Amino acid sequence: MTQEELFKKLIAHSKEYGFVFQSSEIYDGLSAVYDYGQNGVELKNNIRQYWWEAMTRLNENIVGIDSAIFMHPKVWTASGHVGAFSDPLIDNKDSKKRYRADVLIEEWIEKQSEKISKEVTKAKKRFGDSFDEAMFIKTNPRVLETQEKIDTVSNRMATSLGEDDLAEVKKIIEDCEIACPVSGTRNWTEVRHFNLMFDTKMGSVSDDANVIYLRPETAQGIFVNYLNVQKTGRMKLPFGIAQIGKAFRNEIVARQFVFRMREFEQMEMQFFVRPGEELEWFEFWKEKRMRWHTALGFGDDNYRFHEHAKLAHYANAAFDIEYKFPFGFKEVEGIHSRTDFDLASHQKLSGKKLQYFDSELNKNYVPYVVETSIGLDRTFLMVLSAAYTEEKITRDNGKVDERVVLRIPPALAPIKLGVFPLVNKDGLPDKARQIMDDLKVDFKCQYEEKDSIGKRYRRHDAIGTPFCVTIDHQSLEDNTVTIRHRDTMEQERVDASRLREIMEEKVSMKSLLRSI
Ligand code: GAP
Repeated sequence: MTQEELFKKLIAHSKEYGFVFQSSEIYDGLSAVYDYGQNGVELKNNIRQYWWEAMTRLNENIVGIDSAIFMHPKVWTASGHVGAFSDPLIDNKDSKKRYRADVLIEEWIEKQSEKISKEVTKAKKRFGDSFDEAMFIKTNPRVLETQEKIDTVSNRMATSLGEDDLAEVKKIIEDCEIACPVSGTRNWTEVRHFNLMFDTKMGSVSDDANVIYLRPETAQGIFVNYLNVQKTGRMKLPFGIAQIGKAFRNEIVARQFVFRMREFEQMEMQFFVRPGEELEWFEFWKEKRMRWHTALGFGDDNYRFHEHAKLAHYANAAFDIEYKFPFGFKEVEGIHSRTDFDLASHQKLSGKKLQYFDSELNKNYVPYVVETSIGLDRTFLMVLSAAYTEEKITRDNGKVDERVVLRIPPALAPIKLGVFPLVNKDGLPDKARQIMDDLKVDFKCQYEEKDSIGKRYRRHDAIGTPFCVTIDHQSLEDNTVTIRHRDTMEQERVDASRLREIMEEKVSMKSLLRSI
């Protein structure tokens, strides 16, 4: 199965099992907007909890807030979003399709890298065990030529975007002979800016209504509240403020399911530090955030850091944490050193002092900020991509069965326990209900009595339920039940009174938090 096929299956699976639905589907959907279903919302809540507790419980100097989506329009002038929050846009005149110019170039670079990988694979086959990959990459003329092209184009792109030279961006597209994937032609418009903020009006009378924006990041709600929190919480530097909330961007190219949406959710933390110490804290948070990811157990090799070639208007250093999605390594989280850009701009435009008094230095200053910013929806997609597994199972009678199982880390799984009476009679449902009522206070459980036990197991495999218990006639006599483990499919007979203890360690958020 190709990665593309796998991704298509994942999308279909998400819908079939109540994780994600297209928004307004009965009206043919709204592009790049999605709704989370009954299982999706549980998974999303669990990811949210994992992040929130890792930030605000495990770090004594980080507190949370929940600021409004609507903010004074001047916030977005000060933050630079009104002037500079745009993507370079280009249209193909024949297909009338609209693209992000930088994405077209990045895709071209990706194709060149694939060419190199193909050369390496071919050579590996040809030379067998004696193949020295590093030497081959350093010396093979075709590889060297392709790598030089990649380096030249990457540098040109970084410089032109950095200098806001859109004519040069177009020239790169022409020089690389990039064609529209739909029309196949190279009949392009000029490259121009496209601001990504959605606006609306606030006020009942249209004449005096003010234009306000739907926030494109949650971070500004933290910046404008920084002094409120510092003073009321008597916070001392360094300290952080965390927030989870919706953000909105009118993305030009919105695709890849919940990876790039127009309405999405961010989990952001601004860490306020002494000026001059920001790059040390930047390294600290890079490592710490990577540990949060790898604790999920999806394989360290599936993550990498990516340094930004083009820094956002507010940053002096920026790295992404990328995860290997079925469509390649892509950004899940950004770690940015934002200097004092935001606080200093707000101080200037609002005329209100946003300084911190450092009693050790006996000095007032505007703190510097290191930000960690992770997309909740992207993390959700990361978990599903890592978890989705198709397995062949050989039965005792030699028959081969297939199952789709979501190997979601148990602490994040939407349902922790499936509770099944073997048959729907003889007092088994009552006994099952008793067990369910006892455990549902601690864990999200689901009671199911329809279909064969095998079918019920499959349904719960497909939504990632780590444990299922079956209550049979013996349970009525000795209070034992069969507990079945999702990943190994092993079944064991245990006393029902031990279920809480057996599950607690495996499914609790505490264990996951301890492992960071
Ligand atoms: N406050 C900094 C900031 O917003 P960003 O790199 O633009 O930085 C941070 O966004 C994270 O938000 C990204 O790493 C990504 O996970 C998520 N994100 C950004 N745009 C998104 C979109 N259109 N759809 C889904 N997630 C998005």
